[in-house]
Amino acid sequence: MGRAFVYVIVGGGVAAGYAALEFTKRGVPPGELCIISEEPVAPYERPALSKGYLLPEAPARLPSFHTCVGANQERLTPKWYNEHGIELVLGTRVKSADVRRKTLVTATGETISYKILIIATGARALKLEEFGLSGSDAENVCYLRDLADANRLVNVMKSCSGGNAVVIGGGYIGMECAASLVINKINVTMVFPEAHCMARLFTPKIASYYEEYYKSKGVKFVKGTVLLSFDMDSNGKVVAVNLRDGNRLPTDMVVVGIGIRPNTSLFEGQLTLEKGGIKVTGRLQSSNSSVYAVGDVAAFPLKLLGETRRLEHVDSARKSAKHAVAAIMEPDKTDEFDYLPFFYSRVFTLSWQFYGDNVGEVVHYGNFSGTTFGAYWVNKGRLVGSFLEGGTKEEYEAIAKATRLQPVVEDLAELETQGLGFALAV
Ligand code: FDA
Ligand code: NAD
Repeated sequence: MGRAFVYVIVGGGVAAGYAALEFTKRGVPPGELCIISEEPVAPYERPALSKGYLLPEAPARLPSFHTCVGANQERLTPKWYNEHGIELVLGTRVKSADVRRKTLVTATGETISYKILIIATGARALKLEEFGLSGSDAENVCYLRDLADANRLVNVMKSCSGGNAVVIGGGYIGMECAASLVINKINVTMVFPEAHCMARLFTPKIASYYEEYYKSKGVKFVKGTVLLSFDMDSNGKVVAVNLRDGNRLPTDMVVVGIGIRPNTSLFEGQLTLEKGGIKVTGRLQSSNSSVYAVGDVAAFPLKLLGETRRLEHVDSARKSAKHAVAAIMEPDKTDEFDYLPFFYSRVFTLSWQFYGDNVGEVVHYGNFSGTTFGAYWVNKGRLVGSFLEGGTKEEYEAIAKATRLQPVVEDLAELETQGLGFALAV
């Protein structure tokens, strides 16, 4: 028994939602598109899970943040999919794929065949067990990737109000969850192996601004060390975190954010992989011409930087999905994907944006004791990356535009003096 569709999207996250909207804009007839998702709900804006979803007052809840509200577009509720004749197969994991036969088999045993497949399986959170540790299944240890994780985190936070949390990892999840825990009146200690937070992107100077801000909110930092083990009570709850440097941190809960792995396993041995993801062309097409990959799972050529990258951010998921659908539906009218990397975060009342690439020499500018400051990255004499905290819409647009144009920078000292004015004048 099985069903056949022209287009099938495996994975029902951010990229799937944006692809669905694009398919309808380009006139896909009812009955031709199917989305299969392990999650029990229609695609939603995942970034909400570490922000609005965790607020103690008036938290964001579905259906308010279904895609595509994050890009100020239509909100696609289950009713919308129904009205557009899009088959949403929810709560269903695809357990195997055969790209030669163009079939997928779901966990319920159904075979679904396609003419064109879009892989939008995203990524999964890395577990402590993958670093040789144990304790992930304790009831007060939380990860954060999907709605089920977010609901668990909310419940654990509620049971720990006024208590202590240890946050393991100093990346995006660690920083955004630490802020949310503080807002929920929980005392936070952050633990990570690097010398400063957000080590993949921030310079020490930028990181120090955020760390000082977090300290002013009561957050403690234990840097340069990792988790060794948990102490558990007789109910299997973590009561303390033991660190490799000998520290022991009594705690009521733990949040773990130690990176992700793209969900490629269905296609390993069938499609070419690169950078841990599925390698695709500038048309988001994999090594099999009937299969496309988008979002966190796709390693695509970044024209601007002249190399293949896999990005783990929502803007890239939205735009790669849209581009893949254009390439599928109107191949002759669709150019190669030409993407400018864009990352952002919002914590407490702070808000930053970054465009481009953080390689080369760094020039900081603005007032690091105030609310607006930034940095430029200059590589081989050209501006390649821009960071700005506390900017206006126009200022963010200016750094994005300047970074895309990659203007020549002759004098770094002059760039520092000009600061934001440099981008505004490009
Ligand atoms: P995504 O993970 O959204 O979706 C993948 C889907 O595939 C899931 O529904 C999954 O269940 C499903 N799936 C996987 N395997 C399957 C299988 N075998 N069968 C069926 N279904 C399967 N980025 C940013 O730029 N700014 C931000 O502020 C944030 N904030 C943020 C907060 C939190 C808590 C997270 C976890 C992530 C972010 N991100 C972010 C990152 C951003 O959310 C991420 O880049 C996108 O969700 C990627 O979209 P995808 O559609 O590729 O994967
Ligand atoms: P990350 O890659 O941002 O950070 C991982 C962190 O794990 C590192 O900074 C490091 O401090 C820590 N780490 C690594 N090994 C460790 C170890 N053995 N012990 C302790 N700490 C260790 O990943 P994340 O924070 O887990 O985020 C997961 C995904 O969600 C990423 O793809 C991220 O892009 C995405 N996300 C993005 C945003 C955003 O863009 N604003 C927000 C939330 C999540």
